[in-house]
Amino acid sequence: MSPFSHHIYNGKKMALFTKIPEKSFKNFKNTYSLYFFTIIFGVLRYNLVMSKFLYENYKDYFRVGAAISGIILMNDAEKDELFQNMKKRMEEFKKNFKPQPGMPVFKFPEPQPFPKGDMPDKKLAAEQFNLVVAENECKMGSIYHGPDQFDFSGADRLLAFAKQNNQAMRWHTLVWHNQSPRWIFEDGNGGKASKELLEERLKKYIFTVGERYKDDICSVDVVNECISDKNFVLRDGADRSQWFDILGPDYVDKAFFWAKEAFPNSSLVINDYNLEMIEGKRQGMYKLVKGMKERGVPVDTVGLQMHINIQNPPVSEIEQTIELYGSLGLNVIVTEMEVSAYVDKDFEHPDPRREYDKAFLDEQAERYAQIFECFRKEARAGILKDVVLWGITDRMSWKNNFPAPGRGDCPLLFDGDGNPKPAFDRLTK
Ligand code: XIL
Repeated sequence: MSPFSHHIYNGKKMALFTKIPEKSFKNFKNTYSLYFFTIIFGVLRYNLVMSKFLYENYKDYFRVGAAISGIILMNDAEKDELFQNMKKRMEEFKKNFKPQPGMPVFKFPEPQPFPKGDMPDKKLAAEQFNLVVAENECKMGSIYHGPDQFDFSGADRLLAFAKQNNQAMRWHTLVWHNQSPRWIFEDGNGGKASKELLEERLKKYIFTVGERYKDDICSVDVVNECISDKNFVLRDGADRSQWFDILGPDYVDKAFFWAKEAFPNSSLVINDYNLEMIEGKRQGMYKLVKGMKERGVPVDTVGLQMHINIQNPPVSEIEQTIELYGSLGLNVIVTEMEVSAYVDKDFEHPDPRREYDKAFLDEQAERYAQIFECFRKEARAGILKDVVLWGITDRMSWKNNFPAPGRGDCPLLFDGDGNPKPAFDRLTK
């Protein structure tokens, strides 16, 4: 329904129009002017205050973005090619898989063909957001296949989509202990890469990506998830960071200096999870970025992933976190938000599956609304710049498999079929 039809088919206004012929010409003119201005005002109000486009409701405060899964931008032929490759890789994996003695028999899931035609996520991505980021396609593992082998097809596809829809694009991510290619940490003779070799490879990667995308990327996650959950200092080799293990603790500063050269006009982000949830981790990140600023390292923004849930953390903690980093003169962006239905304690103890009934959906709507109000306040204070949701429809959310594989979750603004949930309605009212 267009904004015009919303007002013209409003029953009350139609009834008022029937009185017009009884008026004198002067009154008739005045009455018409009044109606005219009422309608124009109504249309403006609808467009400016109550837009059904999410990003428009926040455009004076922050951009609203979404992580885009590469699959939603592929045509049927591309999806089929991907499916055939996945099948081939699964067959190879099964052939080479050697179960350890005593290991239970593992049943490998069969890859399923992707649905034909566009998924609802694609249209929603184009309409509802003014910022995009690749959910997986700009990670090092998707791009850097060998010392001289780069595959930019997924990143290029998203950039073309963003340009077509007048959207800004972020880059996620340059350095991360996950989803990095295995070869980069190896010397080719069965040993570990030396510090010099790994540095050279990382530098080459950052500069190659920058060369190609520097004019198109508004902000870059330079280092992702580098704070340990155990002791809130830099994650080390024992905590799965081969970057730290081989390069030592100054890899973070170095990555930022190279990123500044490679992306001179983009904002440079240090991104992590649970900063708003766990006080110790929040302080750990504070110490790290304070030190970086003192050393002249060009970090300008802290990214809060905000994979939060229906209960935790309270809005006051989110507010305090944003203001804490703001007090260092840094900007804050929200990079990967969703509101899970589950309050899992940890991987080993996930909550049981629940029903997503009306009571839950309304509670989730209220929680999104309160948090977005806090975002508005922090944007007014000049600290918060962007808010990015980690996906569009519940069907495509990574939370359906994390931390409990196959449990299903309901954390986003649109249901599996692309229909707006109460949370979407609250944010656009
Ligand atoms: C997730 C993606 O959503 C999944 O599709 C993928 O299988 C694993 O990674 N923190 C991050 C993101 O920085 O890159 C992660 O994305 C979610 C947690």
